[in-house]
Amino acid sequence: MTTLRCIQGDITKLEVDAIVNAANTSLLGGGGVDGAIHRAAGSRLLEECRLLGGCPTGDARITGGYNLPARQIIHTVGPIWHGGTHDEAKLLASCYRRSLAVAVENHIKSIAFPCVSTGVYGFPHLPAAEIAIAAVNDFLKSESSVEAVIFCCFLDEDFLIYQKLLNQS
Ligand code: APR
Repeated sequence: MTTLRCIQGDITKLEVDAIVNAANTSLLGGGGVDGAIHRAAGSRLLEECRLLGGCPTGDARITGGYNLPARQIIHTVGPIWHGGTHDEAKLLASCYRRSLAVAVENHIKSIAFPCVSTGVYGFPHLPAAEIAIAAVNDFLKSESSVEAVIFCCFLDEDFLIYQKLLNQS
């Protein structure tokens, strides 16, 4: 049985098997949580990312965690919000499913997600949270090896949304 829960905080501080990075297709770093993860992990992360040759939107790649407390990092590339008519919902759901598939392939038992695409990429917060939770629950119907999925919210707005959607007090 996999537990799903939300917390509020800095994902770079979490001692989990893997944290998920909201990256861009180059995988060469950026701002937001991507910048925070690269700063905390150190320069060896960028060196490894350079070898990956990028990542398409909706897909995921795995690297070491380096100076992070997390053992590994799963980099996923969320869709940029263009009003909802460019397969944004499908691509965002794919980020969560592909990140979990990569986690299972790498025997990861605990994984923490940021609110992918809801910052720089402009995805509306509530639909993004609904898509994230639905995609995770759908994936877990056929895969029970992951023991804990944590939604790590940075902003109060997201934490309140996830608490309500997960019926978490
Ligand atoms: N821990 C957890 N969540 C964080 C942290 C952190 N340290 N820093 C920011 N966040 C949150 C933001 O508040 C937002 O809720 O991560 C969520 C995703 O926002 P962004 O980091 O802006 O990611 P995204 O919207 O997917 O845009 C990706 O931004 O940083 C660039 O290189 C990145 O081009 C890519 C784009």
